[in-house]
Amino acid sequence: MAGTEEGATAVGSGFALEGVGKVYPARSGDVVALEDIDLTVERGSFTALLGPSGCGKSTILRMLADLEEPTSGRATVHDATPAEIRRSHGVGLALQDPSLLPWRTVRENVRLPGQVMRKPVPAAKVDELLRLVGLQDFAKARPGQLSGGMRQRVAIARAIATDPEVLLLDEPFGALDEITRQRLNEELQSLWATSGATALLVTHSIAEAAFLADRVVVMSPRPGRIVGEVRIDFPRPRTEALLGDPAFHAVCDRLRTMLHAGGEAGAAA
Ligand SMILES: Nc1ncnc2c1ncn2[C@@H]1O[C@H](COP(=O)(O)OP(=O)(O)O)[C@@H](O)[C@H]1O
Ligand SMILES: [Mg+2]
Repeated sequence: MAGTEEGATAVGSGFALEGVGKVYPARSGDVVALEDIDLTVERGSFTALLGPSGCGKSTILRMLADLEEPTSGRATVHDATPAEIRRSHGVGLALQDPSLLPWRTVRENVRLPGQVMRKPVPAAKVDELLRLVGLQDFAKARPGQLSGGMRQRVAIARAIATDPEVLLLDEPFGALDEITRQRLNEELQSLWATSGATALLVTHSIAEAAFLADRVVVMSPRPGRIVGEVRIDFPRPRTEALLGDPAFHAVCDRLRTMLHAGGEAGAAA
């Protein structure tokens, strides 16, 4: 593009929040969910949003997914509006409560976004994804026959099925046992690494954030503000061995201190 400053164009931003605030009107008075959020992440990076329950993490993710409008400020995704990215089908989304179609089988649920986008996901790829999330024996089951953790795994497979350029994951591993969770964390890491997608993971697990992300952004209790961030530069692929590494514990301690400091600052205000 003519007249664009040198160095500013090669890679656009992954997503950006500029002065974003969110107020939910409620009968008992307005709920200020977010206040003055400024955050820019690099394209292709993996960011974790860490904060206590109710601090507005899901609200941020839903704004990037075009499911919620900011009350103030603006959000962009890959230098476009969230609506534009959504229309171009560039977003893979796994929400906190997986919304699967109850009358469709697991396999049909995973195939659905590809059908909507007229970019069918090949049968072999669906099989591969189901194997990856450990549901190969449940391809023909209906969501109602699955546990909460299994439904979450379907939602993860569905989110990545279409090779999205942006991956938005809202506590996707919340209902899983520790062993499955760690295995899926490692699978997610390798899927993300091969896809080159810009990923945002919302979590309240310090260890999960530190294990997966390039950068962990820490939020205060509601009204959610950014209280700090930690860059995580452990080499990839990261494996379970990292969880026992003193350097990993040091990072987790730093994040924990930041979370607690954010809580105290909020309580004092
Ligand atoms: N649709 C809504 N109407 C009213 N309040 C809401 C709505 N959605 C979220 N909230 C409130 O906004 C705050 C932030 O919610 P949320 O983004 O879900 O937080 P988190 O994901 O960090 O737990 C919470 O206090 C929640 O109760
Ligand atoms: Mg949430």
